[in-house]
Amino acid sequence: MSNTPTLLQVKNLDVRFQTNDGPVYAVNQLNFELGRGETLGIVGESGSGKSQTVLAMMGLLAKNGSAAGQVLYQGQDLLSMPAQQLNRIRGNRVAMIFQDPMTSLNPYLTVERQMTEVLELHKAMGRRQAKTRAIELLEAVKIPDAARRIDMYPHEFSGGMRQRVMIAMALLCEPEVLIADEPTTALDVTVQAQILALLRDLQRDFGTAIVMITHDLGVVAGICDRVMVMYGGRVMEYAPADDIFYRPSHPYTIGLLGALPRLNSDSAQLLSIPGNPPNMNNLPKGCPFSPRCQYATERCGTELPPLAGSTLQTDLMRACHRPINELTQAATQELSHV
Ligand SMILES: Nc1ncnc2c1ncn2[C@@H]1O[C@H](COP(=O)(O)OP(=O)(O)OP(=O)(O)O)[C@@H](O)[C@H]1O
Ligand SMILES: [Mg+2]
Repeated sequence: MSNTPTLLQVKNLDVRFQTNDGPVYAVNQLNFELGRGETLGIVGESGSGKSQTVLAMMGLLAKNGSAAGQVLYQGQDLLSMPAQQLNRIRGNRVAMIFQDPMTSLNPYLTVERQMTEVLELHKAMGRRQAKTRAIELLEAVKIPDAARRIDMYPHEFSGGMRQRVMIAMALLCEPEVLIADEPTTALDVTVQAQILALLRDLQRDFGTAIVMITHDLGVVAGICDRVMVMYGGRVMEYAPADDIFYRPSHPYTIGLLGALPRLNSDSAQLLSIPGNPPNMNNLPKGCPFSPRCQYATERCGTELPPLAGSTLQTDLMRACHRPINELTQAATQELSHV
């Protein structure tokens, strides 16, 4: 574990949804810690529980959802604190950016009004001081001609610029934790790289801790200290980013890495993992990945593997019945051709 003080601690987080088809176990027994200035990546295919994890942390689950466990921000549990106290932390100390900027930008208000309102409310600034600060932040996220553009409406910005405006909004109160749910998926590759570089700079300048959700392992490669790989609402592997990329030890991680398109290879083939993500209303009894896993044994289909540490690779947790050395060997072979 790192020696930076822990800012955020998630303990035994469960998320359930009640539906007409019965309960959906969207997130199960999730644990992680985040220190100041650290970045955690959460990856996994669609439906693996990434968004519901962070929505639960922020108290933003849909009406039919409920969360259990603890989300400790500087030792205080966000899940059990009164709404008024949570509202002071949310958007202020812990901020979130979404995949679609229009979910958090108001189309009917100028960017100036939206930004100054937040500062007037949370920081008790006057309009003028707030505007100066807002322009500084738009400049920090590299919006050209910010002093003029701040008077525009969100639709007058391009997609990439809108994403920057949303990041500037999230940074208004200098949050200690920034949660980003697929912040670059809707953008083209060049703009995506610019936004990621921007987040890295901001982290360096502000010391912000970041939780970065993506279904794309390539995105986390440059920015994350640790990576949590999720499948079927469970953590499959949780390890330093280098281990995930160079020494993957879970069949699902190996599959995801195999599915990474290599831009420098001639074939640029995209190997995807055969089969589909599980039906969350009806998960297999054992390991959720076992029906698609080429390394699965009979035991994997009947007995859930616990998330456990390894004596061979310290600082790594994995949920797999197969021994770690068998998998790392298999990974070397399987990934050598991609
Ligand atoms: N309100 C709801 N009622 C019932 N099930 C829900 C509800 N919201 C989400 N779920 C289910 O919870 C599971 C996890 O969803 P989540 O949004 O966390 O996926 P994700 O990993 O973010 O996927 P994506 O990459 O597509 O965004 C999914 O099976 C989803 O269908
Ligand atoms: Mg999602």
